[in-house]
Amino acid sequence: MDEKIYRDEDVNWDVLKGKTIAVLGYGIQGKAQAANARDSGFNIIIGTGGSIADAKADKFEAYSIAEAVKKADIILIELADPVQPPIYKKDIAPNLRAGQTLCFCHGFSVLYGQIDPPKDVNTVLFVPNGPGKFVREKYLKGEGVYGCVAVDHDATGDAREIAFAISKAVGSTKAGVVEMTFQHETEGDNFEEQILYGGAIALMRACFNTMVDNGYSPSFAYAKAIRSLRSVIDVMDEVGIEEYISKRSSRTCEYAVRTRGPRVINEPEIRKIFAETERGEFAKEWMNEFALGMPVLHRMRRTGAESKMEKTGVEWRAKFGK
Ligand SMILES: NC(=O)c1ccc[n+]([C@@H]2O[C@H](COP(=O)([O-])OP(=O)(O)OC[C@H]3O[C@@H](n4cnc5c(N)ncnc54)[C@H](OP(=O)(O)O)[C@@H]3O)[C@@H](O)[C@H]2O)c1
Repeated sequence: MDEKIYRDEDVNWDVLKGKTIAVLGYGIQGKAQAANARDSGFNIIIGTGGSIADAKADKFEAYSIAEAVKKADIILIELADPVQPPIYKKDIAPNLRAGQTLCFCHGFSVLYGQIDPPKDVNTVLFVPNGPGKFVREKYLKGEGVYGCVAVDHDATGDAREIAFAISKAVGSTKAGVVEMTFQHETEGDNFEEQILYGGAIALMRACFNTMVDNGYSPSFAYAKAIRSLRSVIDVMDEVGIEEYISKRSSRTCEYAVRTRGPRVINEPEIRKIFAETERGEFAKEWMNEFALGMPVLHRMRRTGAESKMEKTGVEWRAKFGK
């Protein structure tokens, strides 16, 4: 790997000292990033619509989003992506002043032009590669979560330093942080969600349905389709795929993996989805779906919840444990 990896010693966070950092949205990422940055010694306030009691219970100063924007030097946008554009228009944009920094946690709203910040503020991004709970747990252990930083617009001359300093305050430079573009962060994330989460879940369902349709007991099919994957994924991450399949699985398993795995995966389709993502087709489709009130998602959620596999999962966890 010839890319530069930024660690604690490469990043000077003095650029954040004496600054007020507002975390907007006290949800999955907002809670974790606010707590980590406060424990790193910085002045954190929360701007929130619905979580004021939550934030106060955690001993943060909490304000409306508009008030927090006015008080802040640096603004971490930790709002759910689809609600960012209307909240930006109503509460953030009218209260911005020159020299502030807007730090996003996903590039979607900026890349697709739903938010177009003024040129006298910095527009940057910092994303830890993991859910908020994991980001907090790692920080508390003195570790960090791999992350990325990007600068879309540098108004003050130190936007890049500020973005890296935020990544250090949240703990990511303990694991390593890389620099990229808003485009790669956004499209990479959207691509991963379609292929990896979408593909893995479709695979688990196909595995379960095929076994049950062929007379297997649902509990056995469920254990095979979900629990077995859980038991091996951490090992693969820790020691690498080759070590796992050649040394830590059975030879039958190794032969099955090497000869049948590629038949299950449709790589031309994966590449087609990559190209669609790069052309912005996925983003456009999702924005339309959200604007219409998510009719496709509602229908799919109902079908998913009513499926035999989901019902088996509820019984399975009650009988065999979580
Ligand atoms: N989930 C992750 O672990 C993860 C990982 C990497 C990047 N990210 C990025 O982090 C950002 C925040 O994501 P998240 O997963 O943390 O979001 P989230 O927990 O689903 O929501 C964050 C906050 O958005 C506000 N919000 C949500 N729905 C709303 C609605 N319908 N109306 C008004 N406000 C609403 C709420 O703010 P209040 O608390 O003020 O009510 C909520 O606490 C996104 O850009 C996301 O792509 C998330």
